[in-house]
Formats: sequence, structure tokens, C-alpha cells
Amino acid sequence: MDKKTKLTAILATGVVIFVAFSGCIGGEKEEKAELQIVHWWTAGGEKEAINALFSMYRDKYPNIGINEEPISGGAGADMKAVMKTQIFAGNPPSTFQVHIGYELKPYYDGDALEDITWLWEQEGWGDNFPADLQEMAQFDDEYYAVPVGIHRGNLVWYNMEIFKEHNLKLPTTFDELLSVCESLKNEGITPLAVGTLNKWPGAHLFEVILMSVGADFYSDFISGKVNINDPRFDEALNRYADLFEYINSNHAALTWDQACGEVLSGDAAMTLMGDWAKGYFDTRGWRYGVNYSIFEFPETRGVFDVICDSFCLPKNAPSRDAAIKWLQLIGSIKGQNKFNPIKGSIPPRIDAPTDEYDDLAKATIADFRVCTLVPSIAHGSATPESFVTKFNDYMDNYITYGDKTAVKSGIQKAIENELLPYM
Ligand code: GAL
Repeated sequence: MDKKTKLTAILATGVVIFVAFSGCIGGEKEEKAELQIVHWWTAGGEKEAINALFSMYRDKYPNIGINEEPISGGAGADMKAVMKTQIFAGNPPSTFQVHIGYELKPYYDGDALEDITWLWEQEGWGDNFPADLQEMAQFDDEYYAVPVGIHRGNLVWYNMEIFKEHNLKLPTTFDELLSVCESLKNEGITPLAVGTLNKWPGAHLFEVILMSVGADFYSDFISGKVNINDPRFDEALNRYADLFEYINSNHAALTWDQACGEVLSGDAAMTLMGDWAKGYFDTRGWRYGVNYSIFEFPETRGVFDVICDSFCLPKNAPSRDAAIKWLQLIGSIKGQNKFNPIKGSIPPRIDAPTDEYDDLAKATIADFRVCTLVPSIAHGSATPESFVTKFNDYMDNYITYGDKTAVKSGIQKAIENELLPYM
């Protein structure tokens, strides 16, 4: 072999080796691409909704595996802590579920999230999502999450048969609610099912009671502007205590969906819950307007307790491309219109056609446009997470022991230490 041929041969071998090597890397990457996704949607309705998204994703990207890590608990009760540990130990998943607003902030503050403004721009989402939600998905004008669904938190779900049988009128004032409760109690039916095993449902109920005292008052409360001795705060605590008489005695042993199960079985007549309860009832074969219906928690008509689920992109995410594809899917009209009708939520996208939604969802979509929107404490958006934890704890304490003085001084301290410094 002459020198030139030899050199060509060596170069050619090098090219072959390089191509083979990079092909191997590329091939391995292809084979190994796996969406590692952490979420807490394990209950009836929730599970079916995310599964529907997974099957869309699989159809679209058959070469990408899905490795889901569901952590049950509702409202991220357990997942939030697990995720912090995982992220700050440098072991992020490809993407994870989070509420927009304050719940997202610790990850942003800890420099753990990718700025996905480029994705929002590329997809043109700036024109498709309500401005309020966009703001909640941003820090310093940069986007850090993609909303997939909007829930309404201030709804009471009731068993229509029980209401019909006992000739009960839907209450519009808190006093009317109490008299409906009293009638049901006299009939031996638990008026209001609550499941406080994971604490947050008790706090969720109280935040809605705060709204019933006044949406402005609630807004002041989450901004740390309420003096705990304000008579309206007392009024809210009194209203809560009035309901203690009418809730199931086993509330501490039940999860939110088990409390819905009490309504389904007819052991209880009502439960207050976000409209993921709709997903629960529907997947159990119940129908809106036939078996179950809703009313706004008395004196919260015109208020929309906003709970918004989203996913984000952690820095150094494994299978980053797979995560971006997931975010594109959940931000798309197709993805949102697959997920939300099953989940019980409404699409954040304002340009999503609504024919696939039932009457309740259509009414909620209309309400979202006209109601006073307030973010939820129990579902992470309204206040820093350390405040949420304290709020959940004190409300759990209150529903368990009924000690008003203790709850007042606890909340006062939480406002001073966990809220005001971050406002
Ligand atoms: C909320 C979440 C909802 C629903 C609920 C119960 O925090 O936003 O999507 O899943 O928890 O798990």
C-alpha cells in the first residue's frame, strides 16, 4: 500500500469508527430516551386523565419510553417534599407536576429550572393563555412552566338523589347551608364528607370559607394584610366550627377521593372539593345532572378559587428532548382537550374548542371569564410553601381539637414568619 492509499485507508477507518461511535451514541440515546415524569395523579379521574396524555405521547413518540413515578397524596401532599430532595440532590426527573405561582418559586430560587421562554415563543403560547396564568408561570418575565389544566376549588358536590328524596333546596347563604345540614343530620345522613388524612382538604375547606366571608378579605389574607383579630377572621373560624357538627367522624382516616366515595355511596350528602371530584365521579359511572351536581359554596358565587396544574423543565433534566416534547403536548389544544374533559378541569388555552366539554365544564369555562379569580393557598399558588404547610397544620389542628385561640396564634405567627417576609 503506498503512503497515500495508506493515509486514505486510515482516514476512512477513522471515519467509519467515528460514524459507528457517534451512531452508537445516537442510537443508544434514541433507545434510551425515556420521559421520567413525577406527578401525584393516582386517584380516580386523575389517573385516567394523565394516562390519556401518556397514550397520546406514546402514539406520537413510539421510540420514547415513559417512566412515570406517581406519588399519591393529592395536592402533592407527599410529592412536594420528595421532589425538593430529588432536585436539590442533583437528581431531577425529566419533568414534574407543580402548581404555578408560589409552589414553583423554590425551584426558581434554587436555580433548578430551565427558562422556557423560547418554548413559549416558539409555540406562540403568549397569545393563547390568559394573562393572569402567564404571570403565575413567570419569574422576572421569563417562563418556567406550562399550564395543563385549571380547576375551580369552591364547589360543593352533592348526591342528587338524597337532595331530591329529602326535598332540599340548594343553599345560597351560609345559614341556609347550616339548615340543609341540620335536616340531613336529623335524617341520619352525614351532611358533609371531608377527608383530612392528607391534611390539605381541611385547609382547602377553610380557604373557601374565608372567601365566603369576602373575596377581598381573602385577597388581603393571602397578602398578609389581615389582622388575626379582625372580626371577619373570627367569623370564618366560627363558620368552620359550625360545620364541625356536620362532618363525618372518620374524616381523619379518609383521603379526598374517599370522601367523594361517601357521597357516591349515599353515606354522605355533600363534599366540598375542587372539580377533580368531577373526574372521580365520572370515572365511577356517575353523571353530572343525573347522579351528582354542584353549587358554589354559599356566598362565594362570582368567586373562582383557581388551582392550576403545570409541568416544568428542571435543569440537567435526563432526556431533555423527551421533556420538551411532553411540554409541547400538554400546551397544545389537542393535549389539553384530551386531558381536561377526563380530569374535570378546563383548558387553560383560551383558543381551545369547547364542544368536547360537558355542560358543567362549559359553565366553568364561562365562569372563569367573568368571576373574580383568586389563587388557592392549599394548592400552592397563593402563598409560600412554608406558609401552606403551617396553614394545613393549623387547620388540621382546628378540625381535630376545635381550639380557636391556638389556631389564631398559630396563623398569626405563620403570617409574620412565613408570609410577610416574602411579600
Ligand atoms: C390538586 C391538583 C389537582 C388534583 C388535586 C387532588 O392540587 O391541582 O389536579 O389532582 O390536587 O389530587
